[in-house]
Amino acid sequence: MADDFVTVTWTPHGTVRLIDQTRLPTEEVYIECRTIEEVADAIRTMRVRGAPAIGVTAAMGLALGAQTIQAENFNAFFAALEGMGSLFTEFFAALEAMGSLLMRTRPTAVNLAWGVRRLLHLARKARDLPLVEIKAALVAEARAMQAEDIRINRAMGQHGQGLLPEQARVLTHCNAGGLATAGYGTAVGVIRAAAEAGKRIMVWVDETRPLLQGARLTAWELQRAGIPATLITDNMAGHFMARGQVDVVVVGADRIARNGDVANKIGTYSVALLARAHGIPFYVAAPISTLDLNLTDGSQIPIEERAPDEVTHIGGRRVAPAGIRVANPAFDVTPASFVDAIITERGVARAPYDVSLPRLAGEA
Ligand code: MRU
Repeated sequence: MADDFVTVTWTPHGTVRLIDQTRLPTEEVYIECRTIEEVADAIRTMRVRGAPAIGVTAAMGLALGAQTIQAENFNAFFAALEGMGSLFTEFFAALEAMGSLLMRTRPTAVNLAWGVRRLLHLARKARDLPLVEIKAALVAEARAMQAEDIRINRAMGQHGQGLLPEQARVLTHCNAGGLATAGYGTAVGVIRAAAEAGKRIMVWVDETRPLLQGARLTAWELQRAGIPATLITDNMAGHFMARGQVDVVVVGADRIARNGDVANKIGTYSVALLARAHGIPFYVAAPISTLDLNLTDGSQIPIEERAPDEVTHIGGRRVAPAGIRVANPAFDVTPASFVDAIITERGVARAPYDVSLPRLAGEA
């Protein structure tokens, strides 16, 4: 069962095409980014969002930006004098500056920096090729990342669906579906794989204030995939857990520290606490690219603070008095002790995570 929408794609005429997630679910509109600045803006304003999706989009944005670097002309004279080295240096300095522009757009999801670094690394490795070939290789790599992400999500789905019972009422928070990835989804991918395996699945969809990714995006995706879903406001989760109507929780992640602490959409921590209090398994589905093994624990994960109007307004309409002070952290950190398993494309990690995660990541 493939998605019937495309989150992000490289077009034949060399632009980056995105489904505008700020317009869903009422309008299905695609936008085309022609410059790296337009890509950066689309990430910042969350026309595209979700950790793996912004990783792939940033890579495509950098490939797009690379096409505009005029190092050949600017540096031709010096290149002739000094050999190809200086030509590449000029190109690479411009490429790195573009990478920093993209990495500054949203700080929490490590996939974004991962996508950018992967392309920078490729460029460095290809330094002896003509620039025109380096530019083409960057496009090919970004496109390969899109296809790879879908394969990864399907593998994650297979590993994760085994954790769900034959009949399961699954609660999820935010959107970790096809829209948050290049396709199929992480947490939603696990749910989809279970449904595809013939399990009887019903999904509780947290609406996910302030930006309503659950109500606007997850509900839309599940409906289109034909998976039974019930939308609830965030403060209803405990009520249904207490009544024995939630069997399992599956969420995605934006960054996972070495000890298994998980940063995900604000409100995830509360869901994890509720799940633990009610003896409900709490699973996180995320690709290896979401691991940040350089961070010993979740306190080191940068938490994005977004604009106050996301809290004072809903759908452009003011719901709070002008002038009220607002806090708007976009993510929170769920301690590893509340996470029963982390599902990756390479298998399922369990505590102690500082052993299981580096092993799955292939660290010596
Ligand atoms: O602010 P967002 O919408 O980008 O936050 C998205 C989430 O928190 C997702 O759960 C996470 O990125 C995992 S997506 C597969």
